[in-house]
Amino acid sequence: MSRFRFDLLLLLVLSLQLSPALSDLIISKLDRRIDLTSQIVRVTMTLKVENTGHDPVSEVSFTFPEHQANNLALLLAVSTEGKGKNRGAATNLPIGVKQPNDSPPSLVWYAASLPKELGKGESLNMDVLAVFTHSLRPFPEKITQAEPQLLLFQDSAHFTSPYNVKVQSLTVKLPSGNVESYTKLEKTKFSGSEIKYGPFENLPALSYSPVIIHFPSNKPFAIAKELVREIEISHWGNVQVTEHYSIIHGGAQSTGEFSRLDFQARPEVRGASAFRHLIAMLPPRAHSIYYRDAIGNISTSNIHSDSSKTLVEIEPRYPMFGGWKTSFTIGYGLPLHDYLFQSGGNRFLNITFGSPLFDVLVENLTLKVVLPEGSKDIYSSVPFPVKESQETKFSHLDIAGRPTIVIEKVNVVPEHNQYFQVHYKFSNISLLTEPLMLIFGFFALFVACIIYMHADLTISKSSSSYLAKLQWDEVQGTIQQLQDIINRCLLIHDKLEASLRELSRTGDVQACKAVRKSADSLLKDLSKELKPLLALLQSSPQAAHILPKVEDLVMKERDLQEKILLKHTTVVDSYERKSMSRDAENRVAAIQQKISALKQEVDDLLDFVEDI
Ligand SMILES: *[C@@H]1O[C@H](CO)[C@@H](O)[C@H](O)[C@H]1NC(C)=O
Ligand SMILES: *[C@@H]1O[C@H](CO)[C@@H](O)[C@H](O)[C@H]1NC(C)=O
Ligand SMILES: *[C@@H]1O[C@H](CO)[C@@H](O)[C@H](O)[C@H]1NC(C)=O
Repeated sequence: MSRFRFDLLLLLVLSLQLSPALSDLIISKLDRRIDLTSQIVRVTMTLKVENTGHDPVSEVSFTFPEHQANNLALLLAVSTEGKGKNRGAATNLPIGVKQPNDSPPSLVWYAASLPKELGKGESLNMDVLAVFTHSLRPFPEKITQAEPQLLLFQDSAHFTSPYNVKVQSLTVKLPSGNVESYTKLEKTKFSGSEIKYGPFENLPALSYSPVIIHFPSNKPFAIAKELVREIEISHWGNVQVTEHYSIIHGGAQSTGEFSRLDFQARPEVRGASAFRHLIAMLPPRAHSIYYRDAIGNISTSNIHSDSSKTLVEIEPRYPMFGGWKTSFTIGYGLPLHDYLFQSGGNRFLNITFGSPLFDVLVENLTLKVVLPEGSKDIYSSVPFPVKESQETKFSHLDIAGRPTIVIEKVNVVPEHNQYFQVHYKFSNISLLTEPLMLIFGFFALFVACIIYMHADLTISKSSSSYLAKLQWDEVQGTIQQLQDIINRCLLIHDKLEASLRELSRTGDVQACKAVRKSADSLLKDLSKELKPLLALLQSSPQAAHILPKVEDLVMKERDLQEKILLKHTTVVDSYERKSMSRDAENRVAAIQQKISALKQEVDDLLDFVEDI
């Protein structure tokens, strides 16, 4: 509050000192509309500007108090000729920050350049869109699971224009018909879900009248603290997009115990301020869509696709309350010919800039466009100011690395989801580098094989050394099969142990028993397969020197298997009896110790046998 009073004072002082050149323009009509239905505040204005001075004017200025300007994500102005039904085409006006020397620091000035000068007595219609982030403050700042979220919004009922305004009005649109409180001025009307201020007549430049609106809103408050979007072009037909998000619920902080039970029973009441899913709108021909977090893939509950878009529902593993965070990655492929074009000898990528998630504010966006190896003369064109740099990305088969253009922007709102382009030159010869490398690689392998075979053939087939070699090959082959079987047994052991962990988590004895049953039959089969191999080794004189180790390995593995099965039986039994006696606990601990020791021995023996 005190801050607003301070601004007000400054503005009043300022209005007395304004340079006369600016006062030549007046705004004859201004309608402003503020949309508070989402976390991103959108202000639209239609205004009519008149030149009442003698000199032609080429710019129209807009001013915002500094605390608002800091949160200004986007400012767009278009001019339209004529009015009502006769409105002509809209022209986008270039806008730049243009701070006059005599402006106090609490005001930020923007100047929109007109397509043609506005002569004496002429007028012009303009539409302006200003998008603000972080302009809704949760109040109270902390709420419990059961409380609705309340937001506070502050602005001026008079637009802080540097020009005199003949008639102006303000409409504020709320998410619902409910409001806690709002500033009531002389001319204020509340109806439906809208608060109307004005019309106010003949206001001097920079007049100011603070209004505060306090209202309930449970709209999702999803803020991506960080988003790294990687777009990788492969000339073999694919554009791969990978997006890494870290998202926070930026609304009122959640306090007190969270009860999932309450939430599940009545989510609209016991978790009204939480959001459970986010919607991503991907292009129509997106394919190979995945969504995963640190734990693993999450099967996206819903993908809906039609000719104009692909909608994907992203559901985090838990509902998101105020202050809660989550990180995840979404990835998808796009057909190259939809996004990559040629003009002259150049190629360019034409694709949208921001996040495909609905109504998510991205605080820090890093966009990386990874071009094919060998691309040259790279530049980008983005329709708004960004920070840009280049780096090189390496993946398998790369020699020089892939040129990567890195674009950074803060405060990215859905309106930034515009098309941008990355231009580059690429010679088709480069396209052949990787296949040529592969072909050359196979060729080299082939030559090596021939040389090896030749070396082999120098041994006479009838010689005893040749026979010995054949036998040795057979021994090696047998040992390899045996190793393979042991490894499969070890995998089954792991499965059994995992089933015990799962049992302690879910208590599902039947599932655990099912795992055991299939393990038993698999282990039996493997044991059958093992017997002839061992017999073969025992009968071969070539294997004599390694036979003891191999037999040891087979025995130890059998031992290990027995212990693991015993442990499994003991644990499952006590689960079925719904109690674990102290005695059983001690037994399991003792078995576990033996298991650990045996595992180590089996591993060592496997290593040894592998080296043969
Ligand atoms: C997750 O899904 C992607 C795409 O379908 C797949 O390539 C990847 O292997 C999966 N990862 C896991 C851990 O299942
Ligand atoms: C980029 O694609 C969009 C949508 O297809 C199109 O409207 C726009 O003109 C394209 N931009 C360029 C520079 O080709
Ligand atoms: C976002 O960018 C700003 C400015 O570049 C930086 O100060 C801030 O630490 C960044 N935040 C994150 C989460 O990376």
